[in-house]
Amino acid sequence: MSSSETLLWITLALCAATGGSDVYYKKRGQEVTMDCTAIDPKTTRDVEWKQGGVLVIKINIKSGSTSKGSARLTKRARPNGYGLRIPSVEVGDSGDYSCSGFDARGYRITKEHKLHVVSVSVSPSDTVLISTNVTLRCDIGGNSTAPVQWMKPPDDKPHGSPGNTVTLKSVTSADAGKWICQIKDNTVENIEQVINVVGPLISTLEVTALAGGTVHLPCSIPSLNGLSIDEVGWTRNPPTDFQLPTVGKDLQWSKSSSKVKFQPLSTNFTMTLTKLKPSDAGVYVCTLNVSGGILTTQLTLKVEGGSALATEANVERPATVGMWVWVAIAVAGVLLIVLAVVIVLMYHRNRRMRRKVRKLRSMRQPLTNRTYCQCDRPVRQPHPEGKKERPPPLPRYQYDVMNE
Ligand SMILES: *[C@@H]1O[C@H](CO)[C@@H](O)[C@H](O)[C@H]1NC(C)=O
Repeated sequence: MSSSETLLWITLALCAATGGSDVYYKKRGQEVTMDCTAIDPKTTRDVEWKQGGVLVIKINIKSGSTSKGSARLTKRARPNGYGLRIPSVEVGDSGDYSCSGFDARGYRITKEHKLHVVSVSVSPSDTVLISTNVTLRCDIGGNSTAPVQWMKPPDDKPHGSPGNTVTLKSVTSADAGKWICQIKDNTVENIEQVINVVGPLISTLEVTALAGGTVHLPCSIPSLNGLSIDEVGWTRNPPTDFQLPTVGKDLQWSKSSSKVKFQPLSTNFTMTLTKLKPSDAGVYVCTLNVSGGILTTQLTLKVEGGSALATEANVERPATVGMWVWVAIAVAGVLLIVLAVVIVLMYHRNRRMRRKVRKLRSMRQPLTNRTYCQCDRPVRQPHPEGKKERPPPLPRYQYDVMNE
């Protein structure tokens, strides 16, 4: 026997050994279909499927009718041609299966199958918060000695040491997605498991706003992946002199004020502050409590334009007060000018009058005799009705003199 012939025989022997037994690795819940291509449908009337020697199902090839066996699996097993289909495998389905019928020459043949149901478990959960630890386990049912290795696509590099367990410390968003439990038997089997990483909260490091203005402090999360919110809210250290919001599952904040607006949506917890004061500056912390734990993020609020702008911001009332002061000053000024003009006019008039009087006096000197004047006056008479009589007007020059 040549060496090549030996090799051929060894290969054939190996094929017979392994070919005699088909191996299936299926994740719990997946479907498996085992076939029985070795038998000849021309010579075979019934195909018998057994699990560990116990009849599961007998399939009549001509009619397709089935008769049930007594295996536990019987209820869930379905015929598939003359193959066997299990729509959703359970851990207890792992084990040896066989199908039997007749080959083309009429000899009874039995074909062996091995089913390994793989249960993948993620602890604490397949949806975890960022920065927490996760352990992946890949347990293979049905006495498998095949090596197991966890890997992370797309580069498919082995993760951790070989074995059915791997622990991911302080997960990041990069750890989210598909993981593969790779089992190397005659073939390479990949069992997939998806991990969701929730977080981080998205915010900004720093927000700068003007005193008197309004600012949005952002805080949101891309997805909760089905985790439910227990509580979400904002704090500042040191505490603010106004109330910051905290809400429960309903996301309703009843204490909304003109200073703080907080209307969180399912994944958006942005808070709005208005009428900013320099004292509103500081480090604000957004905290989200979900079923799996707590997420926080913080940002620094800077308020610019300190006191000057703050006064202008407070201004609504002060501004109007200032206006009235200016109006008052203007009115007072106008009054002062009017007063000054009146005084000047009167002074000039008086001086003119005095000059006139002096001129008159000098002209009438000879005539302005008291006797003469009195003689000229009308005789006073008592009024018949007793009414007070108006005194007669003084002579012109006398009136002017009085004014002096
Ligand atoms: C969150 O809501 C605010 C308005 O309240 C909006 O301006 C902001 O863009 C939203 N953020 C995200 C990430 O959707």
